[in-house]
Amino acid sequence: MDRGIGSAAVEGDALGDFRIVSEPYFRPVGNEVALFEAAFASRMPVMLKGPTGCGKTRFVDHMAWRLGRPLITVSCHEDMTASDLVGRYMLDADGTVWHDGPLTLAVRSGAICYLDEIVEARQDTTVVIHSLTDDRRILPLEKKNEVLKAHPDFHLVISYNPGYQSVLKDLKESTKQRFVAIAFSYPEEAVETEIVANEAGVDRPLAQTLVRIGHRARNLKGHGLEEGASTRMLINAGLLARRGIPIDEACEVALVLPITDDPDMRDALKSAVAACI
Ligand SMILES: Nc1ncnc2c1ncn2[C@@H]1O[C@H](COP(=O)(O)OP(=O)(O)OP(=O)(O)O)[C@@H](O)[C@H]1O
Ligand SMILES: [Mg+2]
Repeated sequence: MDRGIGSAAVEGDALGDFRIVSEPYFRPVGNEVALFEAAFASRMPVMLKGPTGCGKTRFVDHMAWRLGRPLITVSCHEDMTASDLVGRYMLDADGTVWHDGPLTLAVRSGAICYLDEIVEARQDTTVVIHSLTDDRRILPLEKKNEVLKAHPDFHLVISYNPGYQSVLKDLKESTKQRFVAIAFSYPEEAVETEIVANEAGVDRPLAQTLVRIGHRARNLKGHGLEEGASTRMLINAGLLARRGIPIDEACEVALVLPITDDPDMRDALKSAVAACI
């Protein structure tokens, strides 16, 4: 076997899994598409900031498709180590073989690497991105004694949920200051109605009712609710309603019960639902 051709084919196949072939639906809310394109053109690392379920992940999927780059997504968690990102030697039948981690694969191949919920990772893990996110654009593979120069198309995106993290769970200043930030929030009524109608496959009047419920629920944030109802929750309620679940029940299971265990807050949310339908 020609090993060169063989390994090239394997690499191509591996990246094929990360290519987004059909357009992910994304309804722009502001100037986020142009901002991302400009940042990508300068290979400036991007941080997406915003509450849960407001479209950050969908936006990255859409941008990867739009820019024609493969997308490698890593969900960060507190047990994640630098080796989980960079790679490690593993034992197989032929001895020890190096396996690229997802970050290294993206750096080598020119993919977009999306580190989702980066604050969940420990700070000593996140510093591995420092040399990639300044003008060096290199990734030291210490265990391999190799310094990898990033592919010209490599691009790093992280997401960050302001409000959830404590002082202990925050990015280092030196990490934050390497990124440009695009702020996400729940869109205004007409735009969110369009998104809910499209994603849940429900008619506009129903989508609008759900969005109004969402607005009322968001007003309770800070008055006993940690987070208001996300766009994702409104879509879930719509999907249930489309399958014949009565709207009040759909709202109860999709957006009242999941966000609070406090009986008074549940009553307040149920009243908000009742007032809108
Ligand atoms: N602007 C938008 N255009 C299209 N769909 C959207 C948009 N905003 C939100 N959605 C819908 O809301 C859902 C939730 O969005 P997404 O998963 O991108 O949220 P997120 O911000 O990544 O949340 P988390 O921080 O919890 O990961 C998506 O699956 C999509 O259906
Ligand atoms: Mg997400």
